[in-house]
Amino acid sequence: MEKPLDELVRLQGVGMVYQSSRDGERVEALAGIDFSVRRGEFLTVVGPSGCGKSTLLSLIAGFAAPTSGSVLFEGRPVDGPDPARGVMFQEYALFPWRTVAGNVEFGPFARGVDAATRRARAQTLIDLVGLKGFERRYPHELSGGMRQRCALARMLANEPTLWLMDEPLAAVDLQTRIILQDELLRLWGDARAGAQRPTVMFVTHGIDEAVLLADRILVLGRRPGRIKEVLEVDLPRPRAALRGSAEVARLTAHLWELIRDEAAQAIAEETQ
Ligand SMILES: Nc1ncnc2c1ncn2[C@@H]1O[C@H](COP(=O)(O)OP(=O)(O)OP(=O)(O)O)[C@@H](O)[C@H]1O
Ligand SMILES: [Mg+2]
Repeated sequence: MEKPLDELVRLQGVGMVYQSSRDGERVEALAGIDFSVRRGEFLTVVGPSGCGKSTLLSLIAGFAAPTSGSVLFEGRPVDGPDPARGVMFQEYALFPWRTVAGNVEFGPFARGVDAATRRARAQTLIDLVGLKGFERRYPHELSGGMRQRCALARMLANEPTLWLMDEPLAAVDLQTRIILQDELLRLWGDARAGAQRPTVMFVTHGIDEAVLLADRILVLGRRPGRIKEVLEVDLPRPRAALRGSAEVARLTAHLWELIRDEAAQAIAEETQ
């Protein structure tokens, strides 16, 4: 059997220029991105607002094609969305007309998985994310944290190799965020040493969150997004126990050093 590639995603000279259909104005969102995502790693992505983080995830998801360079997944060019690349975007809302179970079952349904199998799988995931008893509820009947749990279950229903997560916890309160961080780590396999873990790309504005979750942190600079730095986070797992520790605080301070000036510049430019 062919050995799986150690790099799951490869970006070669990736650039992205958006052109407005209204006035033709060009926005260069990404430029010259050369980077590989390692199989099984938890990669967090940080950088100032507008630096192209969501664009980067969209290109890997296959929602858009880069205007230069190439995006490879498992050695093959990405040419559209695929269930192997699951997405959980902040604005990627649940279907409001479907129940929790209906949302979680949607992916397998669309792929033609038979009803009994997809129901059983959905129930397992709903239990796993702590939504047991809410299967028949609609999104508007759930709290923000519960909606994010449902979105997580929906992403997992396709058993994706790669989890593309764009600020998935930004809209929930701090306590809920901490609980969901722990749940996410547990589902990923944080406590299972040597386990075959899924690969995660997780965009966040929370620099402490970026440190706590990550094996590596991809730091993007101000628009057009370029790679400013890649930080290895050499902290032991499981991570929940390290929350608030001196090691996490030290790395968080270092990361903040790296992005502070860029963030201030980005704000200044946005508000000009
Ligand atoms: N569909 C689009 N059409 C035109 N311009 C776009 C489009 N999507 C993004 N942009 C522009 O590309 C740049 C990068 O946007 P992107 O959403 O990737 O940034 P981001 O890093 O995710 O920002 P944030 O942290 O605020 O979410 C921005 O200047 C944005 O205005
Ligand atoms: Mg974004």
